[in-house]
Amino acid sequence: MKNRMFLPITIKGKNIRNRVVMPPMVYFGRAGNDGLVTQQHIDHYMARAKGGTGLIIVEAACVHPEGRLSSDQLGIWSDEHIPGLKAIVDACHQYGAVVMIQIHHAGIKSPPSVTDRPVAPSPVDGNTACELTVEEIEEIRHCFLQAALRARKAGFDGIELHGAHGYLLSQFSSSLTNQRTDEYGGDLVKRMKLALDIIHDIRKELGHKNFIIGYRMGGNDPTLDDGIKIAKLLEEAGVDLIHVSAGITDPDIPLPETPKNFPFNWIVYCGTVINKRVSIPVIVVNNIKTGEEAALIIENRLADFVAIGRGHLTDPDWTRKAMDKLEALPCLDCKPRCRWFNVGDACPGN
Ligand SMILES: Cc1cc2nc3c(=O)[nH]c(=O)nc-3n(C[C@H](O)[C@H](O)[C@H](O)COP(=O)(O)O)c2cc1C
Repeated sequence: MKNRMFLPITIKGKNIRNRVVMPPMVYFGRAGNDGLVTQQHIDHYMARAKGGTGLIIVEAACVHPEGRLSSDQLGIWSDEHIPGLKAIVDACHQYGAVVMIQIHHAGIKSPPSVTDRPVAPSPVDGNTACELTVEEIEEIRHCFLQAALRARKAGFDGIELHGAHGYLLSQFSSSLTNQRTDEYGGDLVKRMKLALDIIHDIRKELGHKNFIIGYRMGGNDPTLDDGIKIAKLLEEAGVDLIHVSAGITDPDIPLPETPKNFPFNWIVYCGTVINKRVSIPVIVVNNIKTGEEAALIIENRLADFVAIGRGHLTDPDWTRKAMDKLEALPCLDCKPRCRWFNVGDACPGN
């Protein structure tokens, strides 16, 4: 019988040829301050599509230049970005991959090289961010919608909203960083208002067919219980695909406890728990290295998709090799940080 990892799955009319995902990963050092796609981006994604990956989620592209996480981040804040993004889409489609793009605003995490006025839902615990006014929140909401419309124009099969890793949308959803008392703060539904409004806007403009709305969320924002509630709200709001990663941590809140015999880390564990609590497809991710490990997750129906991040950076043929039971070039887990955060060419694995 065929390994379930290589069985196709259809979401919103898009036939995804297998369950392997390349998660969004900024290709640092390639875009300039204008956020335009370069030939290196096109080649980078084309190689992974050629390598057999089912779903490619292109790296975080910023919806507003003042909300970038670095000055070399890809942009989707202007129509000028569309032709380059379309070239990535065409290159991936040519080799049979379904391709989405992550749309993003860094909020408080925008560095001084990007803005001297980083914004946040609330100025918490000595952070110097400017508290967003309701008008500014509405403007950011509009930027997300415009970014999704540009993604559709560029031919993407869908978008993924970046609601994890402490960036703006997770700053809103987390009780640790959102202390607002207006309609954008308070209980979880209110803290999720910005994200839910954006999802509603995109659905309204782009309809219910042929365009995937994904959401990358923190499984622990700040607890797994909150993660489950967030996932349910997203499902109710019409999200098609949930991608469970890490949220905002706090030294006083213990990380979700992983059962003793569970062979993966707590981030993957959160994804598998959330997978049981929603009926839409779920992607799990983090430190899943080999084809056997990935297959274990899919065969045991712990999730619908496995995302292989750094593995795809070291070896563009990760998926094809897993299919052929060959060993991919190994990610060597560089410390303190993956070399691709600086210059990918220095990756010792490839
Ligand atoms: C160089 C690099 C860039 C990344 N950029 C993004 C990004 O743009 N958006 C995002 O949500 N996560 C980003 N991540 C996190 C990955 O998507 C993934 O969650 C993480 O690498 C863990 O998965 P892995 O162990 O399979 O690599 C990045 C990771 C790396 C190594």
